[in-house]
Amino acid sequence: MLPIIRLFSIPMLVLVATVAGATEFEPESYHANNCTRCHDSHVYVRDDRRVTSYPALQAQVARCDANLGTKLFPDDLTLLVDHLNGTYYKFAK
Ligand code: HEC
Repeated sequence: MLPIIRLFSIPMLVLVATVAGATEFEPESYHANNCTRCHDSHVYVRDDRRVTSYPALQAQVARCDANLGTKLFPDDLTLLVDHLNGTYYKFAK
């Protein structure tokens, strides 16, 4: 009689989902912490505000962000623009 050796060699694949340091961008807190140094949100709602279209808002936010030196990623910049547009400007895209 031969000993029956059963080899349970089923490899266990442990999938470790690594969230590689990608912290989610939060436009509201980013704005509160970074964008209120030179002006507060009053500039977005004043009567003679400069920005009068969505592309102009994109351009202005990019200019102001460049002043900060933090250099946001394009995706995050868009989230920030959409946050301002949704809260204050309400332009059609
Ligand atoms: C280094 C100073 C500075 C910082 C920091 C700054 N801004 Fe500005 N921002 C300005 C100046 C100056 C103006 C023009 C204000 C004026 O015309 O009276 C302006 C104007 C604006 C306007 C146009 C307002 C209008 O008239 O419609 C927007 C929108 C704006 N900033 C967004 C931002 C955002 C978003 C941030 C953060 C990423 C930011 N700013 C950070 C200096 C700054």
